This record gives sequence, C-alpha cells and structure tokens, in this order.
Amino acid sequence: MKQNLTLLGLQWGDEGKAKLIDVLAEKADVVVRFQGGNNAGHTIVVGGEKTVLHLIPSGILHEKTENLIGNGVVFDMEVFLQEKQKLEAKGVDVSPNRLKVSEIVHLILPYHRQLDRARENLKGSIGTTGRGIGPTYGDKAMRLGVRIGELARPKDFEEKLKSLFEEKKKLLKDLGSVESLEFQAVFDQACQLFEKIREHLVDSARYLRSKTEAGKKILFEGAQGSLLDIDYGTYPFVTSSNTLAGFASCGSGLGPKEVGYILGLTKAYCTRVGSGPFPTECLEGTDERVGQWLAEKGNEFGSTTGRARRCGWLDLVALKRAKDLNALDGIALSKVDVLSGLPEVKLATAYQLEDGETQDFPNFGLEKVRPIYEKMEGWGPLDSVKSEKDLPQSLQKFIRKIEDYTQCPVVFISTGAEREQSLTRGLPL
Ligand code: IMO
Ligand code: MG
Repeated sequence: MKQNLTLLGLQWGDEGKAKLIDVLAEKADVVVRFQGGNNAGHTIVVGGEKTVLHLIPSGILHEKTENLIGNGVVFDMEVFLQEKQKLEAKGVDVSPNRLKVSEIVHLILPYHRQLDRARENLKGSIGTTGRGIGPTYGDKAMRLGVRIGELARPKDFEEKLKSLFEEKKKLLKDLGSVESLEFQAVFDQACQLFEKIREHLVDSARYLRSKTEAGKKILFEGAQGSLLDIDYGTYPFVTSSNTLAGFASCGSGLGPKEVGYILGLTKAYCTRVGSGPFPTECLEGTDERVGQWLAEKGNEFGSTTGRARRCGWLDLVALKRAKDLNALDGIALSKVDVLSGLPEVKLATAYQLEDGETQDFPNFGLEKVRPIYEKMEGWGPLDSVKSEKDLPQSLQKFIRKIEDYTQCPVVFISTGAEREQSLTRGLPL
C-alpha cells in the first residue's frame, strides 16, 4: 500500500467489508478496528472455506499483518477469547505479537448484554444485535464504563464494580429482566478472562505512532455502515458508535490526516437488518419477488444473529449522502453478481416528498419519502469476468451512473465471494 487506507460501509452494514479487507490486507502492515464491537459480522471466504469474525480484525487471516482492536471499540472479553480459540484451531497465529488490544477499550460486561436484551423486549425496540453495544457506549459517555486496563488493579476494579452494581441491578429489575446478576460471579469471571488477555494490551495511539514512524501502512477496518452512524444515521435506528471516516482517527489514536485514502463500500443493492426506515425496500408487486431474489441469491441472512435481512434497490440519494459525509476518495461496489439475471434493475435517484421532489437525504421523516427510480437494463452471469473489458455493457452503464450521481469514482468491483473475483481500477495500492 502506498498510503494508509480506511474502508467503510456506506449503507446499513453487511456491504461485504470483510472480503475487501481481506483483499487489501495483503498490502497492509497493520489492520485496525476502530469502532463497534461484536455486533459486526465479517465473513471471509478463502478457498471455499468461510470464516466469520465479529471482533478480531479481518487482517488476522494474512500471516504478515499485525492487528489492533482500537480504543473506539467496545470489547467483550469472552467473545474475544472464543474467536481467538476458533482461529487457533484453524492454525491461524493469534499470538500477542500480531494481535493487539487497546488498554482503554471499554468492556462489555454481563449487565450490558442483559440491559440490551431487556430494552429489546420493550415496545418500540429497534432490533439490536443484543450484544450489549448500546449500554456499553452509554456507560462510556456517562463516565460509568470500565476500561480493560483497569483490571490490572483488581482491588480498585472490585470497588468500582461494586459501586456500579446496585444501580444496574435496579435498572434491570425496572426493565423487567429476570436474568440473574451476581457481583462475585461477574467480578471473578472478569478477572479470570483478563489474565488471558492482558498480554495483548497496548497503548493503541503509541503503538500506531511507532508503526507510522517505521513507515508501516495501516488499514482501518470500519464496521456497520454510514447509515447506522449515531449522528448522521437514521436515528434512533442506528448503532451506538460513529461509523464515519472521521472516527477512524478518534477510535485508534492516530491523527485525522492519517486515515489515508478513504474507500467506501456499497452493495449493488441495499439491505438492512433490524427496524428503521428503508425507502427502496422491495415490498410490493414485482418488487416483492425481487426482494426474495436478492435475499436468496445474495444469501442475505445476518452473520451475527442469523436474522433475514430486508432487501431493496440501490439508493443513490443515500449513497451520495454517505459519500459526502465521508469525503470519499473512491467507491467499492460489491455483489454485482447477485443482480445478474434480472431483466431490469432500478436505482433511486430522488425522493418524493409531500411537497415535491428532493435529492437531499433528510434528517427527519425518511419513513415518509417515496423513492423515484431510474430503470436500467440488467446483465447476465459474470463468471467469466477477468478484467474490466469483460463487464457487460449494461453493468458498465450502471457503474457510470453511480459515478456520475455521486461524483466519485468506482475503484473496485466485486463479482463473487472469493478473493479472486475482484476488479481493481485506480486504487492506490
Ligand atoms: P457489520 O459490520 C448490519 C444494526 C442492528 C440494529 C442496529 C443497532 O456486519 O456490517 P446494535 O447491536 O449495534 O446496537 O444494533 O444496528 N447493526 C448491524 N446491521 N451489520 C452490522 O455490522 C450491524 N451492526 C449493528 O441490526 O438494527
Ligand atoms: Mg453484519
């Protein structure tokens, strides 16, 4: 890699980030996760074998890269150790010299998971992954969080946890939770897990600074997507972290000028898991059949919770918004093969409001807009695509439409799940 690179999802997650990270990781020295937690589900297929990572950076599958879980991540110690074990069983080197964890990540403790689940049982829930993400970021912001490095002083940690515990118990009871929560069990387990992880801990900022000074190239691996961003996403149907490029800096400890080339990834269509507005969702008439087509052909089932993903057409209004919010240098386009075989494909180019049309993505009332579509000719199978000139004319037109509308070049095209099924054009690698 000639420079650092940040890869982000531009939609509601599940854009195929892991596959792209896997392709890029070969050229990177360090891969960094900087936000989110094990709500992510990053699926990588190598030689037909599938690996799903929720917390450990996708660079781990490339022998030469080092991997860092940055300070902006919320960290579940149990999940980390389970994931580590699974990778170890596959023969992957997960030793501390290539797998680092920021010593100031906030811990997802058992009561965070319980609070997440309890809130999900209330009316108007948003369909979270139930992994404790929201409550942990909430505690971080309220200054009630526990940072992993604190566990190096068990006496202080014990006192702090005690002071937090009563409030959590009360809260859980009020929310109708019947799950058990015992101080001693939580404390003992946390201390045991910590002992198995402490060797992985580093000061994330200092570690990345030393890598930078040594001329190493860093790849920032985004989780979730721009439309799930806590500020600019479809609030409140969002995740609890900032998913935009700006946070690659805050969540890792490098400076904002050091996030490098900003690459955003979009599917050639849209999906969403959980509740919330989704203007181009395929629900009625022929569109309903298309929705089923996308779900089946695209295997659109959540890799974290197994939930079926809602499917719809590509939304250029939302995509342009994501491009602007991230100041993208390039767009990567994934899963174009899933649309293969459809006689006609659609792209939303504007929204119909009660009082007219707009190309501006709104901060309020997204559930009320109706998409205005442009129709384009579909394309056939892409199995024999080896280079850009093999792309069907209609697909080339589809790509040009995305570029013209967003004013951003499409620099990477993925035509299948395997590493080899990729075209690169103009990525600074
Ligand atoms: P990757 O990295 C898709 C969604 C959840 C829910 C909302 C809030 O695989 O793209 P949370 O548990 O984060 O509080 O849930 O965000 N969500 C995702 N959807 N892919 C993800 O990650 C997601 N992470 C969270 O479904 O609607
Ligand atoms: Mg996912």
